[in-house]
Amino acid sequence: MQQNISFVLDGKIQTLDFNDHLKPTTTVLNYLRSSPIHKGVKEGCAEGDCGACTVVIAELNPDNKISYKAWDSCLVFLPMLHGKQLITVENLSQNKGTEKVLHPVQKAMVECNGSQCGYCTPGIIMSLFSLYKNEKEPTKESIEDSLTGNLCRCTGYKPIIEAAAKACAQESTDQFTTNEKHIIELLLQIKDQSNSIEINTSEQKYFQPKTKAEALELINKMQNSVLVNGATDVALRVTKRHELLNEIIDLSGVEELKKCIKTDYLIKFGAGMKLEEVKKIAKNEFPALYETLVVFGSRQIRSVATLGGNVGSGSPIGDTLPTLMAYNAEIKLQSIDGERRINMNNYILGYRKTERKPNEIITTIIIPRPSPKTIVKFYKVSKRKDLDISTVSAGFSITLDDNSVEAITLAYGGMAAITKRATKAEEYLIGKLWVRSTVEQAMELIAEEYTPISDARSGAEFRTIAAKNLLLKFWNETNPIHKLEADDLEIDNLEIDNFD
Ligand SMILES: Cc1cc2nc3c(=O)[nH]c(=O)nc-3n(C[C@H](O)[C@H](O)[C@H](O)COP(=O)(O)OP(=O)(O)OC[C@H]3O[C@@H](n4cnc5c(N)ncnc54)[C@H](O)[C@@H]3O)c2cc1C
Ligand code: FES
Ligand code: FES
Repeated sequence: MQQNISFVLDGKIQTLDFNDHLKPTTTVLNYLRSSPIHKGVKEGCAEGDCGACTVVIAELNPDNKISYKAWDSCLVFLPMLHGKQLITVENLSQNKGTEKVLHPVQKAMVECNGSQCGYCTPGIIMSLFSLYKNEKEPTKESIEDSLTGNLCRCTGYKPIIEAAAKACAQESTDQFTTNEKHIIELLLQIKDQSNSIEINTSEQKYFQPKTKAEALELINKMQNSVLVNGATDVALRVTKRHELLNEIIDLSGVEELKKCIKTDYLIKFGAGMKLEEVKKIAKNEFPALYETLVVFGSRQIRSVATLGGNVGSGSPIGDTLPTLMAYNAEIKLQSIDGERRINMNNYILGYRKTERKPNEIITTIIIPRPSPKTIVKFYKVSKRKDLDISTVSAGFSITLDDNSVEAITLAYGGMAAITKRATKAEEYLIGKLWVRSTVEQAMELIAEEYTPISDARSGAEFRTIAAKNLLLKFWNETNPIHKLEADDLEIDNLEIDNFD
């Protein structure tokens, strides 16, 4: 076990020891703000919403190549930096003689007038820098997605989007590419000397195991400790509620939890896989999971947050939960005594209460490939399209046999204290024709089945109407007769085109 952490900053390995002042739960943002040369990073919200604190993290992939990701530094505990390179806005420009040469991203922002008061600008520059390192010709959607997590009150996004396109289109090799070999050497040096981390201060214990076996031993010994993976949920307890977390087991260093295994029948997602990686895999494999993740947080959040963390939160507004129910997914839980698989539909027991026992961790989320006859969809109703928590969410699946309902799952988030299936509506629909009149009957059952709350996001009445209408939308998008009409329409259009 080692007591300190090491990471690369300003081209050098930095090693940090912890005490009651520099806590293991000190965020990267607060650490940087305490340094005289990294004041560019700003605190806007301390909860992952504004992006003013964005930094870029470079880390070694399994093939020892470097990947660059934008992170919200306000949500990252310092030990999560171990073995990585931390890049801030101060690291982008270069001194050449007496001249300061801006990075292509900074130059494009100046040329496109992408900044006014400048408060958001360092964060925006870092999001664009991450985009520049990852995509040479980003689409407008990709540029917008990379900026979803950055708020700007005064400039307006058009010049910033133009700057992104301009910077990424440039055929240039920046100093990060030129220096990459040296950085890889430094990161490998840290990796070679790395052990599991155990930080003890008079107030806190923070463990970062390297293997699953160690993680299971630790959780078995300290069953009241707080488990974290991406910490995008847990960090808010520190930054917003100012809690002192006494015992933390950080799973982010366990490589076995980051693996993905595909077979003909299912895909096993390691609980420690980042949502941005899950999104890439889901695009071609599980379209409804992909759609869930398109509107999940921001790129900064998805680059840190994990699938295991979303399931682990057991939140009634956790977006992947209704989708995983609709896919009939299974959750693998493991302790030193062995492992067990729980169907997602039986996993939630109460408000943020799950089947997980205190000595277990979630290791894998198993999603069976649906049959070709089954359609799965995800819907999210929220005040904003981007970076917002669901008011109501829904994961639906249907299997039709000659337009009658063979199997159906209607799982809702935001309608009760738990992610909850509309079982009465499901039972009513089984065996019935998938036509509007039966769907309208089922909508009435949904209204009877739930008594949602009114809160800051919406009133109970709105939630009920939204839930009913999502079923109608699902029917509208899935009923074969409707599709047939659309196909006929296409044939008509084709004939008209040919006639022209
Ligand atoms: C700005 C912002 C936007 C967000 N947007 C969304 C959104 O659109 N939709 C949404 O659903 N959520 C959203 N979230 C919430 C959060 O990002 C997700 O719940 C995320 O998936 C949590 O993953 P994590 O790895 O960061 O979890 P952590 O914070 O590390 O952990 C979350 C919970 O899961 C437990 N846990 C973590 N890993 C394991 C494991 N392997 N085994 C057992 N328990 C475990 C932890 O103990 C904790 O209780 C948002 C959060 C922020 C800050
Ligand atoms: S300070 Fe707002 S996202 Fe970090
Ligand atoms: S330039 Fe002022 S907030 Fe963006």
